[in-house]
Amino acid sequence: MQTVICPGSFDPVTKGHIDIIKRAAKTFEKVIVAVFVNKAKVPCFTIEERIHFLEKALEGVENIEIVSCEGLLADYARERRVTAVVKGLRAMSDFEYEFQMALTNKILYPELETLFLSSSAENMYLSSSIVKTVASFGGDIRDFVPECIHDEIRDRLCGGGVNNES
Ligand code: PNS
Repeated sequence: MQTVICPGSFDPVTKGHIDIIKRAAKTFEKVIVAVFVNKAKVPCFTIEERIHFLEKALEGVENIEIVSCEGLLADYARERRVTAVVKGLRAMSDFEYEFQMALTNKILYPELETLFLSSSAENMYLSSSIVKTVASFGGDIRDFVPECIHDEIRDRLCGGGVNNES
């Protein structure tokens, strides 16, 4: 298994996401980071902004491709002939949703396996919504997002309305 997909909304990317993607990149030959348009959520950042943050935060990691996607993950994986998805698992609270997604994707594309990497201990609590909530009250998000994109994310979140759905 050479190529895997790390899918997500990345709205915005956190240190937790970057940890999972970098660990996947060490384990597999190639990682496709797929930024999905999630119709169930109203994003805070545009697809272009989310990709820009990922590109900056993953600079220097050679075996990564960052793409934007609409539609089903299973269809995209089939189209790219990829048979494995890598996702981070933080706590039991993630499990039910992730299990449901993994089983659904397997029905849609039976060759597709979902592999879970356990979140690093320091990122167990972390989510994009935590970043948005803390920033919306003017709180310090330095511990939550990569240093190289901190200022851009902070300025953007402190400047306008924040949607906390992801
Ligand atoms: O970072 P998130 O919001 O937890 O990522 C969720 C994501 C984008 C991975 C998930 O919503 C997804 O796979 N979206 C694509 C649509 C799809 O295939 N859904 C699963 C079958 S209902």
